[in-house]
Amino acid sequence: MAHKIRVGALISGGGSNLQAIIDASKSNRIDARVVFVGSDNPEAYGLKRAQKHAIPTFVVDYRTIIEETRGRPPKNLLPEDFDLEVCLRRTRQRLSDASSDRVKAERYFCIRAIAEAALLREMAAYPFDLLVLAGFMRILTPYFIDRVNTDPSQLRIMNIHPSLLPSFPGADGYGDTYRYGCKVGGCTVHFVDYGEDTGPIVGQKAFEITPDDTIDTVREKGLKLEWQLYPECIQLFAENRLQVVFKTYTLENGTDVKRKLVQIAG
Ligand code: GRF
Repeated sequence: MAHKIRVGALISGGGSNLQAIIDASKSNRIDARVVFVGSDNPEAYGLKRAQKHAIPTFVVDYRTIIEETRGRPPKNLLPEDFDLEVCLRRTRQRLSDASSDRVKAERYFCIRAIAEAALLREMAAYPFDLLVLAGFMRILTPYFIDRVNTDPSQLRIMNIHPSLLPSFPGADGYGDTYRYGCKVGGCTVHFVDYGEDTGPIVGQKAFEITPDDTIDTVREKGLKLEWQLYPECIQLFAENRLQVVFKTYTLENGTDVKRKLVQIAG
């Protein structure tokens, strides 16, 4: 068995993907071990899954932080290394109601920075090579991302998303796929960047949607594939086979587009 990479996980809910990763690591199907599980939600069942395997857990209760900082967040809670201008410049999220309103955007990023600094403090106890978001339902801001991706050429936050990106980013990928009438659905593992579900794609799996499918059977089909895909992508990372490359393509109208892509070596 090769050297095992250390994987940290963030979850918000049931943690079936986390379970798939734990199972794959315990049975040596992947060269990885889960070194911590963190959650924004104290009720997340995934925390119990981790505890069953004696994996350290922690909670940063986002809801409480958001409630306690209603109005302007107390400046003395902000991490010292937080720079609002950098966050605003780097983010590529559509902040819906916040994007056009400087006061709302400031509040949004300050509250997230307080929560994310708490996450980073907890995570500091457990050195890791790769951070996997496994049903973590909070958007991460540039403040957090930059402190994990300390070397910008080495992306080390992965997410799993319930659609074939770039279609249907956002919170309800399977629902959006189903309601659109798609004949194929799927799931995507990608590295996290400053946008919402926009980062370079590591792997995808697809399934057929037939006329007798319901939203529930679509979710079931998708989740089963997620449980295969996430461990496979973690293994590619463990084998050091994921290379982030820039490619420039010339469109038919003559303009050049530059893309950041994941190339799989070997
Ligand atoms: C999965 O569908 C995942 O793609 C999405 O949230 C769901 C989490 O499921 N991000 P679980 O908590 O891993 O069971």
